[in-house]
Amino acid sequence: MRIAVLAETAANEDRVAATPETVKKFIGLGASVVVARGAGMRSGLRDGDFEAAGASLADGNAAAADDADIVLAVRRPDGVAVKKGALVAAIMDPYGQDAALAGLAHAGASAVAMELMPRITRAQVMDVLSSQANLAGYRAVLDAAAEYGRAIPMMMTAAGTVPAAKVFIMGVGVAGLQAIATARRLGAIVTATDVRPATKEQVESLGAKFLAVEDDEFKQAQTAGGYAKEMSKEYQAKQAELTASHIAKQDIVITTALIPGRPAPKLISAAMVRSMRPGSVIVDLAVERGGNCELSKPGEVVEIDGVKIVGHLNVAGRLAATASALYAKNLFAFVETLVDKKEKKLAVNWDDELVKATLLTRDGAVVHPNFQPKG
Ligand code: NAI
Repeated sequence: MRIAVLAETAANEDRVAATPETVKKFIGLGASVVVARGAGMRSGLRDGDFEAAGASLADGNAAAADDADIVLAVRRPDGVAVKKGALVAAIMDPYGQDAALAGLAHAGASAVAMELMPRITRAQVMDVLSSQANLAGYRAVLDAAAEYGRAIPMMMTAAGTVPAAKVFIMGVGVAGLQAIATARRLGAIVTATDVRPATKEQVESLGAKFLAVEDDEFKQAQTAGGYAKEMSKEYQAKQAELTASHIAKQDIVITTALIPGRPAPKLISAAMVRSMRPGSVIVDLAVERGGNCELSKPGEVVEIDGVKIVGHLNVAGRLAATASALYAKNLFAFVETLVDKKEKKLAVNWDDELVKATLLTRDGAVVHPNFQPKG
């Protein structure tokens, strides 16, 4: 059983799909591991570290993937030839990517989208959305602090007292909770909002204040899967009314609000941006899904009347070494379940609910019900 670890080729992608630690574990399962030269460099991992863990090196992704039974990557490896029947696991970003999925199917790959892993107890250790969102929430606060021209904690000095910064977190899922915890650790006065009632207690348990329109619609906003619903126009108007005056008084606003399969809800209008005082900072973590702020731009830090709006892409990847370490563990935990440990070979149970939920292509076809080619 040969496992290939690819080098990422996308811009802004510094992560890698394996670490020396997971390489050792794969070898412990009876696999041989081949790493594309340089794959770990931007995550602080040298080729020699992988070799010391027992991997061999290949010159480039094509050589690494050649004859591999399992191919591991961070992003969907478009254009890398794989052996028929090879399992390819990555964050596949499958929405609206029909041509790329057809390519994987045509190559005969069994392509697994790690981000479609169900959020059930057994799969928690494989949950890449959580492992990466947690880091994004942390990094968002540090990015905000770096752009902010003032101190965050209250400081009482001989030269006078510096007030604590006011930080508002919009959307309290995995990223938002970590953003609250991080901003609190830095000494900020933290408030937070969400449309799911379950978040109120979580916010308060982290020492932040909860702010939301708590009407009947709010009470129904959480789906059975634990996600938010898209709220009605009426609710959105009430929410905007409530948050507008609050945002005007904040120094830093971090937005993380997402709705599965929908564009990110617009929570901060241009007028709200302009209501903030110069030097304030907004970090829009939803920028890749259309943004929570009307004025954020993907991949840019824009300044509007002295207010900075940070729209970094792949924020978890800005902590590449930590993000890689966690992602690599998520991958190992999943791949381990697909291997026959006695026979030391790939033995996928195609009926396993985790496989069914994540498998995009198999035997030449797109098999996932949500991504069937149209027409
Ligand atoms: P997400 O990334 O889909 O959304 C982020 C947050 O934005 C959510 O809290 C959502 O309620 C909020 N939001 C959506 N629309 C909004 C609006 N209009 N205004 C304000 N906030 C809005 O969520 P994430 O981080 O993926 O977490 C979703 C749920 O899954 C949470 O309940 C989390 O605790 C749960 N979860 C469960 C796991 C498990 O059981 N294994 C693992 C990870 C998360």
